[in-house]
Amino acid sequence: MCGIVGYIGTKKACPILLVGLSRLEYRGYDSAGISTIEKDGLSLVKDKGRVKVLESNPEIEKLSGTIGIAHTRWATHGKPSKENAHPHQDNSKNFSVVHNGIIENYNELRNMLEQNGYHFLSQTDTEVIPNLIHYYYTKNQNNTVNGFLQAVRDCCIALKGSFAIEVISKLFSENMIVVRKDSPLVIGTSATEKYISSDIPAILSYTRDFYFLNDLEFALLQNDKATFYDQNLNEIDKKTSSIEWSATASEKNGYEDFMLKEIYEQPTAIRETIGARVSLDSKCNFEELNIQKDYLSSINKIYIIACGTAMHAGLVGKNVIEKLCRIPVEVDIASEFRYRSPIVNEKTLSIFISQSGETADTIAALKLAKKCGSRTIAITNVIGSSITRESNYSLYTHAGPEIAVASTKAYTSQVILLNMLAVYFAELLETSDLKTINTIKQEILDLPKKIEETFKCKDQIQDFAKKIYQEKDVFFLGRGVDEAVAKEASLKLKEISYIHSESYPAGELKHGSIALIENGITVVSILMDKTLMEKSISNIQEVISRGAKTLIVTSHPCNENMFDEIIKVPDTISYLSPIISIIPLQLLAYYISKEKGLDVDKPRNLAKSVTVE
Ligand code: F6R
Repeated sequence: MCGIVGYIGTKKACPILLVGLSRLEYRGYDSAGISTIEKDGLSLVKDKGRVKVLESNPEIEKLSGTIGIAHTRWATHGKPSKENAHPHQDNSKNFSVVHNGIIENYNELRNMLEQNGYHFLSQTDTEVIPNLIHYYYTKNQNNTVNGFLQAVRDCCIALKGSFAIEVISKLFSENMIVVRKDSPLVIGTSATEKYISSDIPAILSYTRDFYFLNDLEFALLQNDKATFYDQNLNEIDKKTSSIEWSATASEKNGYEDFMLKEIYEQPTAIRETIGARVSLDSKCNFEELNIQKDYLSSINKIYIIACGTAMHAGLVGKNVIEKLCRIPVEVDIASEFRYRSPIVNEKTLSIFISQSGETADTIAALKLAKKCGSRTIAITNVIGSSITRESNYSLYTHAGPEIAVASTKAYTSQVILLNMLAVYFAELLETSDLKTINTIKQEILDLPKKIEETFKCKDQIQDFAKKIYQEKDVFFLGRGVDEAVAKEASLKLKEISYIHSESYPAGELKHGSIALIENGITVVSILMDKTLMEKSISNIQEVISRGAKTLIVTSHPCNENMFDEIIKVPDTISYLSPIISIIPLQLLAYYISKEKGLDVDKPRNLAKSVTVE
């Protein structure tokens, strides 16, 4: 997805903007550009291709302005090209704009502007924005900075769709205006500098103090001042939030790739997410939820809604919540939920999981559930993200910034949080006995150490990856909660190695898909649930008879001669086993991708946070 960076301060803007853009590269993009306020007007340097191409443009060296905006574009309207790259300017070159999101009524606005004498140089939806600002600026006939603000506001009210926008003007050489609606944007602040970005890690090395905008709130920025307005331009008060992530958290710190670093950060991420919530001497602590026993007893369903990996965490959550709390849990994909006229009302508690907190489908689903009367809980990794502003309650995973496109530590942190939430609900409802609860708590507390032990399988996995990296298809099997892990492992493999892969409940294969099993094909099975192990082994026997090569992940004794490769991992209770069993499979996807020489952190066609529908 597109990335935005902005700077207004006392230093040269251009180097800061370029560093910011390179830190946003992981989001995926196809072109990049910069505009700064220079003595002789607005600069504009942009091109198709990587940030490095922009850096090597001779025009870049000439930029000395202390205010600037920059962008990485992920093409939606119009092919990747210099003309379509951002920033865009109005015809008079008074205003430069960068934009994330999609303007749904851009055709209508473009026609209106053309009828009023404006012309367009690109095929983008964005180019209407600077021209519309110019249109209102001229129409309103107010040449003060308030007139600039009024023009940006009038423009944004006319826009339909999603946007995060930065605007600078040669007419107001000490200001920048930023605004967002359904698209991410954060403002970092210090005494004499303001940093703007699509996400926190890109500017974390400069400041820990951030302002977060709600939809259609406007920030009028100067280097030493930030003034905020609602959509009617009434001034509003805003406090900063302090971000606890360390400044180096978004660096590779000696690892070859972010994904590998993030896999190895899982013990810490889990420890941080557990925090002070769990102890053997007291009940689980979720005081920010303010949910009472009466309410919990009154609901008849919990919905867990998310996309991709976060949805797979939801499937693990369903298992533990249903078993401990005896409340039916439905898990749905956000993009399906929002269009299926879901049965949600005040008797439904809806939980939304999103690492980024910015996934458009998940946020839209949350808004729908709220409208239907459901209470909503957001589980996210990013403080101040959009989802936290929409939900009744926000619960944070403390995984630290996740930069690699393929989610690893965010997933396991979501799973541990859901386990703790299930225990919290069960304690409130008194649906599970003390012994069970205490066993789970002890296992939760022991988990970071067990993850560290799990890493011992690394060499074995690396060797196995060498054997199978040229495969065309890989199957993943599991029963019960192991099937949720099979789904997640299969997704990891697909997204970073481009190998076709499928996951199935082990017992389902024989109902059709076993027709695909042929000599030499790799079948990976997760056998963590002891109670279902024998059944699953019978299913694996069926694929072995048809010539499959088998790898199993288990913590239980098994017939060593039966399988081609056995990955032994530490034992834990089945509720938590998905956190252990996914680790070798994350490593497997990683090493296969490396063997194939692929870009692990930035797989093709994918973006880290999917902020459009
Ligand atoms: C896969 C992956 C995606 C995300 C999905 C939701 O590795 O990362 O499937 O899980 O796009 O993103 P968030 O959690 O940010 O809502």
